[in-house]
Amino acid sequence: MENRSLVSIAELSKEKILYLLEMATHFEKHPNRKILDGKVVATLFFEPSTRTRLSFETAANRLGSNVIGFTDPKATSSSKGETLKDTIMMVSNYADVIVMRHYLEGAARYASEIAPVPIINAGDGANQHPSQTMLDLYSILKTQGTLENLTIHLVGDLKYGRTVHSLLMALRHFNPTFHFITPDELKMPEEYKMYCKQHNISYTEHSEFNEEVIADTDIIYMTRVQRERFTDLMEYERVKNIYILKNSMLENTRDNLRILHPLPRVNEIAYDVDDNPKAYYFEQARNGLYARQAIICDVLGITLEDII
Ligand code: CP
Repeated sequence: MENRSLVSIAELSKEKILYLLEMATHFEKHPNRKILDGKVVATLFFEPSTRTRLSFETAANRLGSNVIGFTDPKATSSSKGETLKDTIMMVSNYADVIVMRHYLEGAARYASEIAPVPIINAGDGANQHPSQTMLDLYSILKTQGTLENLTIHLVGDLKYGRTVHSLLMALRHFNPTFHFITPDELKMPEEYKMYCKQHNISYTEHSEFNEEVIADTDIIYMTRVQRERFTDLMEYERVKNIYILKNSMLENTRDNLRILHPLPRVNEIAYDVDDNPKAYYFEQARNGLYARQAIICDVLGITLEDII
């Protein structure tokens, strides 16, 4: 049987990405479509989440599905020593699709190889967050009118931030120009810079974050410094507040500029930015509902034709 899991954004063609975005557009217009009546969606969160879990569960509810799952692995039999394999096999007995967030890189890939039902990767360590990327692309498309030839500044923790790793890979289809703004400790890993070179993606690295650096960009994608991935908390303390976007920095930016952030925010965007029309991060999170409705339908083999 064809494995319809969504594990890595790198596996999606340009056509497939555009197709899922078209589906998301449809769900934004018609979010309440009871096409999953009788289905069960399981959400297994081995790491904390607000947006990803709640938007997946809202997506499933609005599609008429039932939802089961857990948010605290300590309250499950994995705390008694049950393996990930056994957990996945058990939940596959109960659900038609599994949405899983796990702290280990590669956990979603492993689950997809053993599960008889599709797996949707809701984040695996510092590796991938493909459903976030779909909502990021949807947000970029809605605000810019295109995904092609955009200048995008990725700011903050590009070492551990899985959202920027997925986004970079997805945008390879659309000729982006990237600017990576990081302190030395949090630089974009070599494997992703190599990926850019292999796909002829232009990028420049900066350590300064100021008005001049962001003057000509279309998208500023801010990220949180991922405290939970540091082994040395002193290092986290040194870099945690290194870049803070303030409203005053946006005065001479392009009219079409939009500020994205996968959220949660800690200190990296000052609250005075929230009222600026260029701030888009709360709408971005809302777009997650539509993008995730499209993803759930797709892994279950439901097509755009079926839902129109
Ligand atoms: N963007 C994101 O993954 O947020 P949560 O951790 O709240 O799910």
